[in-house]
Amino acid sequence: MANKMTNILETNGLNKQYQMGEVEINALRGVDFSVRQGEFVAVMGPSGSGKSTLLHLMGGLDTPSDGEISLAGMRLTRLSDDEITVIRRRQVGFIFQFFNLLPTLTAAENLALPLLIDGKRQADYQARIEEMLRLVGLSDRKDHKPDQLSGGQQQRVAIARALVTQPAIVLADEPTGNLDSKSGSEILQLLRRTCDQQGQTIVMVTHDPRAAAYADRVVFLRDGQVVRELKPAPNTQAIMDVMAELEL
Ligand SMILES: Nc1ncnc2c1ncn2[C@@H]1O[C@H](COP(=O)(O)OP(=O)(O)OP(=O)(O)O)[C@@H](O)[C@H]1O
Ligand SMILES: [Mg+2]
Repeated sequence: MANKMTNILETNGLNKQYQMGEVEINALRGVDFSVRQGEFVAVMGPSGSGKSTLLHLMGGLDTPSDGEISLAGMRLTRLSDDEITVIRRRQVGFIFQFFNLLPTLTAAENLALPLLIDGKRQADYQARIEEMLRLVGLSDRKDHKPDQLSGGQQQRVAIARALVTQPAIVLADEPTGNLDSKSGSEILQLLRRTCDQQGQTIVMVTHDPRAAAYADRVVFLRDGQVVRELKPAPNTQAIMDVMAELEL
């Protein structure tokens, strides 16, 4: 049984280069990053510092140029694409800035999709979907399509979708970046609650020090490297001080 001391995710010497014609871009340069079971980690850093790249590699959406990634005890870098696809489907929940819901499906159908893709039968997952809708406070919106929901509600559907498979880790890339501050803080409280009450492990990229203050730990990236870390339970002012010091 995994516990708080277990690293659910670990990267060692992670490198990612992108080749753009003649130019080589070093998006990540030797990143050692680990996340413990049940931890909520925020990743900050200037635009282009490699935050999304790190998230994509950790979630198996892309492959590193060099280095190792372990997720839930499995070495992603040793697995085939098909094996990584299955791990991504079952062990990783993604939340994006622009929600990425399927526009023609209702809230409930968007939630069903990851389970359907994984071959679950409807009779088996109906209760789970209702439970998730309740968790995010949208039981009365289950038949609404994304364009019939507010931005904050759409993001809550996206969170429910990310959690529905009970993944080992949730990876969120600026989940409040497209929301007003009230909807944004509702989303952050919801993420914090899933961490506190269900032991959900979360890695969240954000530009906002107030958002990062919901995390247990803040990791700062610059030019593809980890340059600083703040823990535990950092407050907004401490985060802003480090941002100023690092000129972020
Ligand atoms: N597919 C790609 N091809 C080429 N270069 C890329 C690609 N994706 C990212 N990069 C480059 O890699 C670097 C890191 O990009 P990344 O998207 O990880 O930054 P970020 O920290 O998420 O920035 P932002 O805060 O603007 O979202 C940038 O210099 C970017 O231009
Ligand atoms: Mg990004």
